[in-house]
Amino acid sequence: MEAFTPRLEIGVMASGKGTNFEALVNTYRSYDLNINISILIVNKANCEAINRAKQLSIPYLILDHKDFDTREDHEEEIIKALSKYNVELIVMAGWMRIVTSKFIDTYEGRLVNIHPSLLPSFKGMNAVEQALKAKVYISGCSVHLVNSRVDSGPILIQAAVPVLDNDNNSSLLVRIQEQEHRILPIGVYLAAKRLRLK
Ligand code: GAR
Repeated sequence: MEAFTPRLEIGVMASGKGTNFEALVNTYRSYDLNINISILIVNKANCEAINRAKQLSIPYLILDHKDFDTREDHEEEIIKALSKYNVELIVMAGWMRIVTSKFIDTYEGRLVNIHPSLLPSFKGMNAVEQALKAKVYISGCSVHLVNSRVDSGPILIQAAVPVLDNDNNSSLLVRIQEQEHRILPIGVYLAAKRLRLK
């Protein structure tokens, strides 16, 4: 894998635990790729991702959507923060909010999402539960570029995870997330390569 010149600045958007955010930071810190996670933006004031940012010494910003009148106003602040940190690529790592087509257009080819299913199966909310209900034998996770249809953009990388007989939501999610932490840094790297080649 080749390093980026100039340094690649990445912004991460998260709403929850932030384990994928942490995996990105730790992976890029242990490889000499000249990739920097410059800012974490969260939309929930008490989410666990904030503590991880503190521990990892990554700047973070809380932009609670409830403090804004419209989705557009909220996203405008997000865009401002991302520009302030010269972010070139954005990763939605458990960002549990639909983004507008304006936001997607602003970052065309530069917005990456991770989803806990083998897309195009089980789009949208509760993907792990959907997979269990459908009684599939194999589920997994997908890293993809975001386009205007939910969980539908070009896939960058996927990992398959077998569904075991006695799996429940949390046991399957644990194994899916192990794979997410492995493939997200690779998927983001691939998206960045495409971008820099343009
Ligand atoms: C991840 O499993 C990710 O795939 C999922 O949220 C989780 C965030 O975990 N994303 C979606 O469901 C998006 N539709 P984390 O906060 O520990 O990284």
